[in-house]
Formats: sequence, structure tokens, C-alpha cells
Amino acid sequence: MTADERAVRRAAALRDELNLHNHRYYVLDQPTIPDAEYDTLFRELQALETQFQPLITPDSPTQRVGATPVAGFASARHRVPMLSLNNAFDDEDIVAFDKRVRETLDVAQVDYFCELKFDGLAVNLTYENGVLVRGATRGDGSAGEDVTTNLRTIKSIPLKLSSAAAPKLLEVRGEVIMFKQDFADMNQRQRDANEKEFVNPRNAAAGALRQLDSRMTALRPLRFFAYGMGEGADMKVLTTHQELLQQFVKFSLPVNGFGRLCHAAVGVLDFYRDIAIKRATLPYEIDGVVYKVNRLDFQSQLGFVSRAPRFAIAHKFPAEEALTEVLSIDVQVGRTGALTPVARLKPVFVGGVTVTNATLHNEDEVRRKDVRIGDTVFVRRAGDVIPEVVAVVLDRRPQSATEFVMPTSCPVCSSHVVRAEGEVVSRCSGGLICSAQRKQAILHFASRRALDIEGLGDKLVDQLVDADLIQSLAGIYDLSINQVADLERMGEKSAANLIDAINKSKHTTLQRFIYALGIRNVGESTARDLARYFGGLEALLDADLQALQAVPDVGPIVAQSIVDFLAEPHNRQVMDAMRSHGVMWQETQPAVATSVSGTISGKTFVLTGTLPGLSRDDAKALIETAGGKIIGSVSKKTDYVVVGEDAGSKLAKANELGITLLDETGLIALLNEKEGAKLEKDT
Ligand code: IVH
Repeated sequence: MTADERAVRRAAALRDELNLHNHRYYVLDQPTIPDAEYDTLFRELQALETQFQPLITPDSPTQRVGATPVAGFASARHRVPMLSLNNAFDDEDIVAFDKRVRETLDVAQVDYFCELKFDGLAVNLTYENGVLVRGATRGDGSAGEDVTTNLRTIKSIPLKLSSAAAPKLLEVRGEVIMFKQDFADMNQRQRDANEKEFVNPRNAAAGALRQLDSRMTALRPLRFFAYGMGEGADMKVLTTHQELLQQFVKFSLPVNGFGRLCHAAVGVLDFYRDIAIKRATLPYEIDGVVYKVNRLDFQSQLGFVSRAPRFAIAHKFPAEEALTEVLSIDVQVGRTGALTPVARLKPVFVGGVTVTNATLHNEDEVRRKDVRIGDTVFVRRAGDVIPEVVAVVLDRRPQSATEFVMPTSCPVCSSHVVRAEGEVVSRCSGGLICSAQRKQAILHFASRRALDIEGLGDKLVDQLVDADLIQSLAGIYDLSINQVADLERMGEKSAANLIDAINKSKHTTLQRFIYALGIRNVGESTARDLARYFGGLEALLDADLQALQAVPDVGPIVAQSIVDFLAEPHNRQVMDAMRSHGVMWQETQPAVATSVSGTISGKTFVLTGTLPGLSRDDAKALIETAGGKIIGSVSKKTDYVVVGEDAGSKLAKANELGITLLDETGLIALLNEKEGAKLEKDT
């Protein structure tokens, strides 16, 4: 063998190996070699190709990096036209579609292959003898733009089909998309570089695909899913769409995993509902699902009307983005005094609901997005996420558009507004004098995961604060039935219920109490850590910056927030007042000591049934605070089973295995006694 022959063989072997690893990495998501090893092979091939130019073949992975810019794209005619789909928006449309299909075919029931409808760009990939020779955009359906060099940079598109039996000619139809996370990362980089952001993944993908400099495309994280075929000369005989996709998989083309064969209209509607639930969690955006008659002979029988097939239909989801107008920009005051600019919008139907407000987060965001009153904007509401202004349509900005100005005094209480250095948030300095902050503080205090005061919601808190019946958080416990009953839309009965709920809330846990105070930067999990670490309130009140930072997961910022909160005499008075009103909890030994004693620490507990005085969450918190672990099911390894009313199979299982049983009193006794006993010995 000559040196040249050896080079040719080695290059071919490297191409195949690299393409294989590429497929494992980008399509199967199962890499089998480390990145560094891939890079070594890649560089070896590059070196060979530099030495012997003729070795550069169109299926060489080195061709994925892009080439020198072009002046424009050539036109590329599709061998078989690229069609669009008719849209359906509700169940009736689908039932009617299925009926038409059955009647035309004169059959009783039809199977449909159901797929996701990707929100990207349709492309046509032409493979000759298994090698990707051309890639084009959809264009007008008959001809698009030749974007081959750009498409080659997409790693999940095989440059060569992996099958010995690749057909002479194959047009693969599919969608180029950008994953949500990749889009977010890309926009973060744009922000960091002070560059304009992209509106959505679809626009970002479209922009990338139409880059004249393919080296730019190569830097954009694009993906591809194959879902159809154009021309297919010499293809193995296929009878269904499902078989086509299976053949694609054998060719190592990326086929989306959510596709499913469904029977009749009921089947496809189930698919729709299932995907609608999963939609928000998918890593890419979809705007609906597509149903395709599975049998290919049925497909040809049904044929086409104008530009859409009669054998397929898109069932769309409500759009998550819409255009509307900014009527004004108001400012809302939050629990910590944070002033949030909120865009008041001309009502628009988006994400399945009518949206009239969208958060603008803070002053800097308003400037960065350059949102002005009077602007036309993209509004987005995905899943249950709060509606957001995504971008402004600058072309539609009226002359009269006005800029937003952050007020210098609080719109609710007129206290001055401060924006600390290095912070993006402006805050009202009024504290609990500010009724907006007071309302939010009360709502938080009463919320389910805080002191859980049932019935103390939005409307009632507004009334109570507006009537000046609650001046501080502790004021909740001063309320009388008469005061509440005098409020509008309240009667004796509901007033009594509220006071009852307020009284009930007095039996709580330290964790809930700390969380309920609404200290800045102290969420539920920090509250739990603090409760666990200090065991009682006095120890927490005595803690300084250093002591606080000794708590696991508490850093300087959180510690400072707590110190600031405790330095305010008013806050200490509120806590004292609450305790004198009877707000109480079970104190435990500090974790510093329990970790020494370690009696409960590491022990496993199973909870079953309803305890008389403790909610499940509270019992769990108490046990965890003392260092115990809660597990879901009883086994030989379980140390204790805590039994309440209506205990079920877990109790039976515990009896069977002879596990120690505890009732609520037993549990509390255990938590105190064991730790106490051990502590005595240690000290
Ligand atoms: S099939 C003959 N399947 O939707 C049928 N299209 O409105 C041709 N699309 O231009 C299309 N996901 O960009 C098909 N699973 C899917 C799709 C899909 C997204 C897009 C495609 C097409 C448009 C039609």
C-alpha cells in the first residue's frame, strides 16, 4: 500500500468513526468516548485533509465548522413540493377531520401517527447514495434557499446515512429548532456583550440558518428532527408512516421520541391532552401536535387540496406569544418594599388566558428592553409562568411613546424610594408604615406554608389594613370578632371563623414562625436550617453575624439580612407581642448539641395516619429538626413508626416487623427526653 492509499483509508476510517460518535452524542444522547478523545481523532483527520486536499469529502465531519461567507443563497428546487398543514383549534375540528378521512376511504376506523409540531423552520435535506449533498429552506414550497453549508454545521444532521442499503436518492423533511436552554444561554451571551437579544427560539434559529457566514451558524446551537419524506427513489418498500420513521432511525436520522400511533379521533385527542400537559417541560417549543394517517396507501388515496395534504392536520395549542399595546406602566409595592414596574396592557388572549398586566421586573429591565408607554410589544405567557414583556416592535413605536420614570416617592405611602448601590431594585423606605408592604407582610404571614391562617386572603387583608385594624403583624392577634364582623361583606359567622383560624395558628413550629416573619432572603429552607440549628427563638435572637454564618447554607448576605431585621426594635417588639398572645411552638435542642448527642440523628421515621395536634409537615419538621429522617415506607430498617388516626397498611407492616410505635405524645417525649438525657451526659 502506498502512503497515499494509507491516507485515504485512514481518512475514511476516521470519518466513519467520528460520524458514529457524533450520532451517539447528538442524536442518541449516549456518548461512548470522552470529548478529548473525539477532539484527538478530529484533529488527526484535519491534519490528513490539510496534507491531501482531495480527501475532503462532503461527509467529512470537518465540514461542519462552516466556510467563508457567501454573497447570497442560490435557489434550490424541491423534487417533491413542501406542503403546509391545515390547522385545527378544537376537538370538533378533529372529529370532523377524522370523519372526512373515514368517509373518503370508506373505512370504519383509521390509525393516525401523532407527532409534536415543532416551532422551528422546515428544511429539505437531499441525500444521494447516503451522502448529504444539499439542504434547503422551505421557501414558497416549490423552491427554497440553498443553505447546505449552514445545515452541515448542525451536529444532529448526519452527513452520511448509516446504512449499507442507503437509497440512491432521498429527500428528508424535518424541522430545525433551537432548544429553550440553548436559546436562554445565547441571549445571556448577547446581554453580556450588550448586543440585541432574540425574541424567541424560532427567530434565533431562523436567523442562524440564514447566516451568510456559515461559521456564525456553526456557533449557534441548532438541532434537527426528521418527520417526513419527499422524493425517495429506490427506498425499501414501506407501508406506513411509522415504518418510515423507523427507517429514518436506522439511517441515524434524529426522530423525536414522542411520536405515537393512536387509534381514531379519541386516540389522537388523548395524545393532544397528554402533550399539552408535558408541553411546558419539553426542552424545546412546540405550537401543537400533528396527526398523520399512518397507512401510506391511504395517504395517496386521500391526496391533497391546494397546498395541504388531506391526510394530515395540525392541532394547535393556544399561542404563548402575542402582540399588544402598553397602555401605561404602573409601580407595585411588594412585601419587602420592592417597587416593580408593571405594564398595563390592552387585553390580549395569550397562553390560553386574557392577559392585561405583565411584569417588567425592575427599572434596568425597562431600560434594557426599552419599553415605552404606547409601544407595541410581544407578550409571553408560557404554562403558569407570570406574563412577561419579551420585546418591543420598534417599527410600530408611535411618536407619542413616553419613557417610564421610577417614582422618587412611594405611590402608596409617599415615603422616599431608595435604590441601594449595586442593586437593581428600588425600594420604598416606609417599612410597615407603608400599607402596601403591611398588606403583603400579613398575607405572607398568614400563607399556607407560614402560619397558615385560613380565610385571611387578599380581599380581607385589604379591608383590614384600609380600616387601620392591623398596624403590625402582631395586630392580627388583637382582632376581635366584632371588628371583623363590622367589615363589609363579613358576618358574625365568617368573623368567628376567622378568629378561630387565627387562634389555631398560634400552635406552630419555629420553622414556620421564622419563615412567616418575612425576613429578606429567608425562605422556607433557610427558616428550617435556622430552626434546626438554634432549636429555640432566644438563641436565634442572640446570634450575631458570625454565629449566623455558622448555620449550614447561611452565607454573609442572608446573615446580614437577619442581623438587620433583628436590629430593628420594632421587629423584636412584634415577636414579643406575638408570644404574649400565645403564639408557641415546640422548642428542640440546638443542632450543635444534638449532633454531639446523635441520639435521634440518623434514625428513620415513618408517619402514618392523622396526628391530633400536628400536621404532617410539622411532624416532619420536628423530626428533621432533631436530626431524624422521614422515609416513605416501613421496612426492617425503620426505627420508629409514628401512628395517628386512620393509620393504614403501614401500621400493619410495622406490627408485623415489630417496629417501635409512637403516638404524638410519644414522639414529642422521645424528641425531648432522648436529647435531654444525652445532653446531660455530655455536659
Ligand atoms: S408534516 C405534508 N410534521 O408545520 C405534511 N410538519 O404547517 C408536511 N411542522 O411547514 C409537514 N412539526 O414546518 C409536519 N411533525 C411535523 C411538524 C411539521 C412542525 C411544521 C413544518 C410545516 C408546518 C406546516
